[in-house]
Amino acid sequence: MPGETGITSSSAMLQIGDQFDHFQICGHIAQGGMSDIYRAFDLLSGKEVALKIPDKNMIGDPAQYERFQRELEVMRTLKHPAIQRGLGSGRYNNTPYLVTEIVAGESMRDLVKRSAPMSPDAAVSLTRKIADGLAHCHDHEIIHRDIKPENILIAPDGQPVILDFGLALTKGAHRVTYANLSGAAGTPDYMAPEQVEGHRGDRRTDLYALGIILYELLTGRPPFTGDNHLAVMSQHLHGDVPRLDKKGVPPPLAAVVARALQKDPDDRYPDMHALMHDLDHLDEVDVAILEKVSRQSERVPFWRSPVLVPIGIASLLLLTIIALALVLQALHR
Ligand SMILES: Nc1ncnc2c1ncn2[C@@H]1O[C@H](COP(=O)(O)OP(=O)(O)OP(=O)(O)O)[C@@H](O)[C@H]1O
Ligand SMILES: [Mg+2]
Repeated sequence: MPGETGITSSSAMLQIGDQFDHFQICGHIAQGGMSDIYRAFDLLSGKEVALKIPDKNMIGDPAQYERFQRELEVMRTLKHPAIQRGLGSGRYNNTPYLVTEIVAGESMRDLVKRSAPMSPDAAVSLTRKIADGLAHCHDHEIIHRDIKPENILIAPDGQPVILDFGLALTKGAHRVTYANLSGAAGTPDYMAPEQVEGHRGDRRTDLYALGIILYELLTGRPPFTGDNHLAVMSQHLHGDVPRLDKKGVPPPLAAVVARALQKDPDDRYPDMHALMHDLDHLDEVDVAILEKVSRQSERVPFWRSPVLVPIGIASLLLLTIIALALVLQALHR
């Protein structure tokens, strides 16, 4: 498996050959935001699995066990080729763990690094498959809320597999927001404006994140970057998304990205099905949104508007003349 090492990371707790509950550790797959992922042999089932264990810094967090339980529950509700399958969860020596199917393949982050910018056809095809998985989640009233290339694996046949439902919102689940996880939430590059504002988000929040991914696949970088998280978050709230038709992307596809990345969720596609419809019928997409985006970004603050500036100057001149006249009158008395 690409990226897998025999040597565990400095924060990882387990070494190859260790036995952890009924699992034998075979390798270290990756270090996530808050956990280590191991390849392990399940001595009970005789199968290879992926074992997710919180890293040293998170191990004492009492909420972690509950998060893994919830992640498993979410994965068990879903059954789709684009969704990772959950196998079990538990606690061993006070350490919570999550067991999932092992996905051979590479992280979508590596694919993006290697292949983006990619052709519009390739970008649409990949986005369409991720959208299909997310539509399945949303149809089951599950919102992922942490869609980003790091949380998607690409199987050798090109099938994307969405992982990491640690932040997912389910019907009736208690509130877990970015604020609860601020230190560990990772990159804000894919964060929708409503998440930046602290709202819990809905299906259109995942749609925004997927829009950022599509933008990145087409150009090689997300629309908003910056030196620090705050700078990026502020751009999600107030920054203009560059028009992709001006960067050589076919206008209908640029219009799809523009609509997915509207600041106000009401201005985006209402759901994944509507987005998929447009991706499937690009020849029918209304490109008028591109002009709207341009007008918005060209809008100048009212105090710098072309009408107000001359009026302001004329008023100032008039006031100066009146003041001078009054002074002269006073001097002549
Ligand atoms: N089942 C799996 N098969 C192969 N690789 C995996 C699997 N699960 C996770 N990975 C790899 O491990 C990385 C981290 O996994 P994941 O996103 O679930 O952890 P995390 O970001 O630490 O999650 P959390 O935020 O819930 O702590 C992924 O980016 C992926 O590369
Ligand atoms: Mg992750």
